[in-house]
Amino acid sequence: MNVLLIGSGGREHALAWAISASPLLGRLYCVPGNAGIAEVAECVAFDVEDHAAVIQFCIDNDVEFVVVGPEAPLVAGLADDLAAAKIRVFGPSKAAAQLEGSKGFTKDFCTEFAIPTAAYRRFSDARSAAAYAAEHPLPVVVKADGLAAGKGVVIAETHADAVAAIDACFAGAFGAAGAEVVIEECLVGEEASFFALIDGAHALPLVAAQDHKRAFDGEKGPNTGGMGAYSPAPVMTPDMTRRTMDEIIWPTVRGMAARGTPFKGVLFAGLMITAGGPKLIEYNVRFGDPETQVLMMRLKSDILAALVAAADGALKTFDLRWHDDAALTVVMASNGYPGEYKKGSEIHGLDGARAVEGVEIFHAGTTREGTRLLATGGRVLNVTARGKTVSEAQRRAYQAVRAIDWPGGFCRSDIGWRAVARERGGS
Ligand code: AMP
Ligand code: GLY
Repeated sequence: MNVLLIGSGGREHALAWAISASPLLGRLYCVPGNAGIAEVAECVAFDVEDHAAVIQFCIDNDVEFVVVGPEAPLVAGLADDLAAAKIRVFGPSKAAAQLEGSKGFTKDFCTEFAIPTAAYRRFSDARSAAAYAAEHPLPVVVKADGLAAGKGVVIAETHADAVAAIDACFAGAFGAAGAEVVIEECLVGEEASFFALIDGAHALPLVAAQDHKRAFDGEKGPNTGGMGAYSPAPVMTPDMTRRTMDEIIWPTVRGMAARGTPFKGVLFAGLMITAGGPKLIEYNVRFGDPETQVLMMRLKSDILAALVAAADGALKTFDLRWHDDAALTVVMASNGYPGEYKKGSEIHGLDGARAVEGVEIFHAGTTREGTRLLATGGRVLNVTARGKTVSEAQRRAYQAVRAIDWPGGFCRSDIGWRAVARERGGS
């Protein structure tokens, strides 16, 4: 079958790399793609916000299946429009994408279906939000309701910071996404990224990962989209995985179906593993970036068959096989990211990096100009390695990083530290 993949990040390169190995695949197209994706797919350019253009491309190119990488097209209803045009799609409907599109929606959903999450209240005006925050124990978490590209969350250590965050939201710092705020309790524990494919009625858990959100070593600096990730996540023991499925994922699948808005696609639960068990921090309705890079390195089975099964409601009898090996990815970002950064610096040395055993390099913000490879985004490369342990994967990934000559970029030097410390300690 011909497949169209939507997106341009490291997540989409990893998906394209895995999909391109599928025996089911005819042609693989990607819109808009990047320089790395162009090595495994045919990159095409049109406006994805124009749903009619997406449908027309599929008709003109016999595309039978569309895989949507990022959340924005899903929240905008692209999956609904494709389904109405009888084109199969991996990704939830607009109604089901509210699980990521509105934090308030998800919090109320958790209350209705008794899913463990931080205690919260929703507000649509600054005065009552500030009054509530002023009485809240510290730290207190302030979130813009809608999509804010990961920037809409403030963990306020003082009441003044909380009020400033509330005022920024209502003053329009996140546009329409900040017209409502959620104020919630700060959870304490270790975070994990948990993924399950969902076909409307059935859920198939994938392996879990951990990512590093802060820009600098030692979990310092501003929040980013993610500076690295690894899998497996040692906190996700078999018992914690079972509890996450029973207490969080299954009630969500049943609840969404009971409401008449069944969820299809991948459900990405951001979890806090607290002393009392797993709690939901947030849902995403798409694969994680950079978590997908390590998931695809560990997957043995055909990803395309799995995505099609999720779309077709056929997951009940489906199974996936994984490598026992660990995987780890180091994100190389443009100097200045997540703030302002220059575009167009040149990258050398990828061939040497790729030659390191067990290494794959997934591109995010890159483009080719003739034979030159240029950085065009904030997150630019994902240097990814497999190894028998997280420590071995880490060694290989950093060996490959050292082979890359890119003065315009930086990376963290401690990706995987929690898992490596555990492996050293033998627990
Ligand atoms: P989100 O955009 O909801 O994933 O939030 C971004 C990050 O903020 C999460 O990955 C957590 O590290 C942190 N965070 C969000 N909500 C909470 C909470 N209630 N308690 C503690 N940390 C939180
Ligand atoms: N790495 C976190 C995310 O994809 O949202």
